[in-house]
Amino acid sequence: MANNQKIAIFGTSGFSREVLDVCVDLGYREIIFIGYGGKEKEYFGYPLIDEGDLLTLKQDDYAFVIGIGDNTIRKKVADKYESLQYINLIHPSASFGDKQRQRIEEKQGNIITAGVRITNNVQMGNFGIFNLNCTIGHDCIIEDFVNIAPGANISGNVRLSEGSYIGTNAAVLQGDAIDKKMVIGRYATVGAGAVVTRSVPDNAIVKGAPARQAESTIKGNVQYINGSNREKNHNNRGGGAHPRPDFFPQSLAA
Ligand SMILES: CC(C)(COP(=O)(O)OP(=O)(O)OC[C@H]1O[C@@H](n2cnc3c(N)ncnc32)[C@H](O)[C@@H]1OP(=O)(O)O)[C@@H](O)C(=O)NCCC(=O)NCCS
Repeated sequence: MANNQKIAIFGTSGFSREVLDVCVDLGYREIIFIGYGGKEKEYFGYPLIDEGDLLTLKQDDYAFVIGIGDNTIRKKVADKYESLQYINLIHPSASFGDKQRQRIEEKQGNIITAGVRITNNVQMGNFGIFNLNCTIGHDCIIEDFVNIAPGANISGNVRLSEGSYIGTNAAVLQGDAIDKKMVIGRYATVGAGAVVTRSVPDNAIVKGAPARQAESTIKGNVQYINGSNREKNHNNRGGGAHPRPDFFPQSLAA
């Protein structure tokens, strides 16, 4: 079914093109990418405009979505351009429990891709990424700017704190009770395939089954800030990567 709303996607990475897939499946026809374009005017057959020109889109009644997987950069974009109209992008094959869709519609900027299931009484945040076939169990609290990679399963009674990242196929086991959550800390990273059996501190990186804190000297899930080689992309390695965005808005990365 055609959708006449015009939509602009921030970012020019592999992930932004997966966001494109959701837009196409939802019937959007006027789609444009926002990046750090340089001379390029096109991205995979769609118009590409430089971040510096995006206010023209606002005047032209575009809705916006931030197709940038890095939680920190996604937050920078949202903070810098807080006056834009951000929509929730929900793939038609995603499914929801009782009253859950309504809870999502009250929020903004969430990207829910194909095959996701969110059961019920899940408190939603803004600007979360719920990637292919991940599941969220009952009574979870999902804060802003989380990223749940494909196939990850979040059991009931879990809190995903702001900016937390759950790797591909990880399992986060259930919290003890509705008022005693399993907590994944702020900007913590859970490695691909990990089985999380106890709460994870803020900025920690955990991996393995059962998950244990990695010895890595690099904490959290900050990636590619200022393009430093040393600041590795924890999110991207080991589980099928989102390549570094070709043109993510450089002015936002500093
Ligand atoms: C766990 C992770 C955050 C990196 O942790 P790290 O300790 O800094 O990892 P390093 O790359 O320095 O590797 C250290 C060791 O851990 C191993 N390792 C890396 N990722 C692992 C994982 N997910 N589970 C178990 N072991 C892992 C490495 O093989 C290496 O082992 P070795 O020393 O025996 O060779 C990262 O590998 C990861 O899993 N990221 C999530 C990726 C993902 O899901 N992407 C989804 C894209 S849609």
